[in-house]
Amino acid sequence: MDSFVINGGRPLRGTVRINGSKNACLPLMAAALLTDQPVRLLGVPNLSDIRNMQRLLDSLGCDLTAGGDGELTIHGTDASRVLAHYDIVRTMRAGICVLGPLLAARGRARVSMPGGCAIGDRPVDLHLRGLEALGATITLDAGYIVAEAPPAETPGGPRRLRGAHIFLGGPNGSTALGTANVMSAAVLAQGTTVIESAACEPEIEDVGRLLISMGAKITGLGSPRLTIQGVESLRGTPPAGYPVMPDRIEAGTYLMAAAITHGDVTLENFPTDTLGAALDRLREIGVTAEPVAAGGAEPDTPASAADAVRVAVSRRLNPVQVVTQPHPGFPTDLQAQIMALLTLADGNAIVTEKIFPDRFLHVAELLRMGAKITRVGPSAMITGVRELVGAPVMASDLRASAGLVIAALAARGQTTVNRVYHLDRGYEQMETTLQALGAQIERVPGGSV
Ligand code: EPU
Repeated sequence: MDSFVINGGRPLRGTVRINGSKNACLPLMAAALLTDQPVRLLGVPNLSDIRNMQRLLDSLGCDLTAGGDGELTIHGTDASRVLAHYDIVRTMRAGICVLGPLLAARGRARVSMPGGCAIGDRPVDLHLRGLEALGATITLDAGYIVAEAPPAETPGGPRRLRGAHIFLGGPNGSTALGTANVMSAAVLAQGTTVIESAACEPEIEDVGRLLISMGAKITGLGSPRLTIQGVESLRGTPPAGYPVMPDRIEAGTYLMAAAITHGDVTLENFPTDTLGAALDRLREIGVTAEPVAAGGAEPDTPASAADAVRVAVSRRLNPVQVVTQPHPGFPTDLQAQIMALLTLADGNAIVTEKIFPDRFLHVAELLRMGAKITRVGPSAMITGVRELVGAPVMASDLRASAGLVIAALAARGQTTVNRVYHLDRGYEQMETTLQALGAQIERVPGGSV
């Protein structure tokens, strides 16, 4: 298993272009199962989770063709395949995204139950409840979700889901992938579906926009109430293709990496509109993302949906309170990264995790680097220290690992971050990006220190 060896203490300087969003791209790819015409996506990131989704779609009878610059065309050609095998889904929870599209377009699905992961149990009860409301019959068999749409009303016709009024809220708010699944299924259902307490995450909005470009009728995207009028069939994407939104979590991660090193970094393709809560917390800490026009000149207008920003950081970092919440609140996927930044703030900060209350795998590792953190249930109190010190660390979660890399970039001496395959799931060649910004970071193949 590869490791990163990082010698900290160098301010990052330069420009990074933010890639397409992993968490948007996975359900976007699954949506290709809804049509027998080609779906062409642009700006698909080169990540192991994306490659796993490609394997899954290949096993489900899709032809996949990758072009240059993150172009990926997915063409469902064998609609008889409905089995999402455990071997693939266990490596990538987002495999569950194929359930709704398979059920809607092919009338049935047999999808491996994804199981838990390092950040918690990760149930899928809301996905199943939503699909059942659309008329699906769902049973569990040998670790697989077996789902069937209601039989055709006329003999020989296709099985078809039926529109319904659905409440998708759970104990911790809505469900992002659950909303993607139910929305993707409802677009081909008979009649109208209303989803209440739908996820407002920008990635789910992106899925809705793709579906609309394929002929779906959806209103209310980005709000907790979606109305979907079912259509008979969907076409492929327009010939020019569909651009995947920029990755707001990658953007926030590099922003915090720049801030903790007191560097001077410009982030291009930065999705300002999707990061309101994170930018608000960072502003209070003393970190801002100032809009810049291409070429570095000051712009006339503020940063728009995807723009270039230049990170500015005050000498002293202020401690703040952070509570993770569903969008538009502070994203859980940036919790570990902001905690790393707060380890060097001037005072006591509090971070509360409300989406995945056990998502604190980075805490014990940050302690090994000299951080002062006390965890009480779903909260952590972080008492800022003058410096972090390099150490061998490991985290069994993607974002926790990103938090450790951020801490290592500022730490005195050498840090080895073990098991970086977690990072490879969500960050495209992170070491190359950071090297280009002047960080001393090397990938050591197969090493476990
Ligand atoms: N939940 C239920 N029942 C369900 C589904 C979810 O109780 O059926 C609960 C979860 O346990 C959690 C909350 O609802 O407490 C929210 O979970 P959600 O379903 O929204 O998570 P997800 O859709 O499985 C996506 C991202 C995660 C991100 C969460 C929250 C992808 C592939 N994954 O997961 O991203 O943390 O939304 O925003 O889109 C990551 O990228 O590192 C990552 C974990």
